[in-house]
Amino acid sequence: MDSFAATRARMPELQRRIAADPGRFRMLTGERPTGPLHLGHYVGSITERVHLQNLGVETLVILADYQVITDRDIAARVGDHVRSAIADYLAAGLDPDRTTIFTHSAVPALNQLLVPFLSLVTEAELHRNPTVKAELAASGRALSGLLLTYPVHQAADILFCKGNLVPVGKDNLPHIEITRTIARRFNERYGEVFPVPEAMVTDAAEILGLDGRKMSKSYGNAIALSMSADETAAAIRRTRTDSDRHITYDPVERPGVAGLLSTAAICLDSTPQRIAERIGDAGSGALKALTTEAVNSFLAGHRARRAQLAADPGLIDSVLRAGNKRANDLADATLAEVRTQMGMSYAEAR
Ligand code: TRP
Repeated sequence: MDSFAATRARMPELQRRIAADPGRFRMLTGERPTGPLHLGHYVGSITERVHLQNLGVETLVILADYQVITDRDIAARVGDHVRSAIADYLAAGLDPDRTTIFTHSAVPALNQLLVPFLSLVTEAELHRNPTVKAELAASGRALSGLLLTYPVHQAADILFCKGNLVPVGKDNLPHIEITRTIARRFNERYGEVFPVPEAMVTDAAEILGLDGRKMSKSYGNAIALSMSADETAAAIRRTRTDSDRHITYDPVERPGVAGLLSTAAICLDSTPQRIAERIGDAGSGALKALTTEAVNSFLAGHRARRAQLAADPGLIDSVLRAGNKRANDLADATLAEVRTQMGMSYAEAR
């Protein structure tokens, strides 16, 4: 059984423990602000966070801005992406009174945890990480020190607040393994400080983008939550389909058709195969019309709420300021404890 299957198999029992005693859990998760959030994020992760928050799990969400530069030079428009993501979080129901939303770059003590953490892993372990290898290949660049070590940075993201529950996608499971290793090794070497966090994966079907590949910010195949209904219609209209009027779900041979079916299915709470049957011989024009209607009605409420929130930039900034403040308080406390355990707590200069 691979680690994804194994993690998935543990989910029912974990869900039971969470429901029985949500106060025992502190959830930390997040994403890189590399582009606008899309439908895949909405159904795959954002609604799950809202659900856990509403169950009473303490929730923290990181916008990992320093992780943006693992595979690109410049964090283009990173501020816009941060603000746009926060608008989506709030519109989807994350409540800033219960959920801490913050950025890497605003929390110095979190970043400082990277130093002792790097001493707890070997170079060979870092080189073995399959996700780092895949991202290296996709970047077409030389391996930077930051790309090699970002899973350790991610361990700091999780452990600075003593997070013990980490909802992630499949490709982030190796990073949670490293985080668990770091927590255990730190505790063995210096005394008990950190929980050993548990990964959480969702059962949500992976949503295909409009080109049939996984929906992704970086492939240009996504339906962003921030698009208008007209922009959504235009993106769907541009999708490359084929001339076979009989619609079937075949991601390999008919990627554009499959992307549309997958997208419509998510929004209609159905399956791609059932949508294909419904369209029958009506052709891709009918499929595009159905998909546009499905997406735009599914997202209408969210989009109306996010437009209202985004119109008040003062609100977004104040949510982020409060989140950064709380994250700094947690990080300062953890770093102080770490330094004490390591025998590095001296008279402070400040
Ligand atoms: N690496 C995550 C991604 O692929 C983003 C991330 C950064 C994250 N720090 C995290 C996720 C901590 C969970 C916990 O988008």
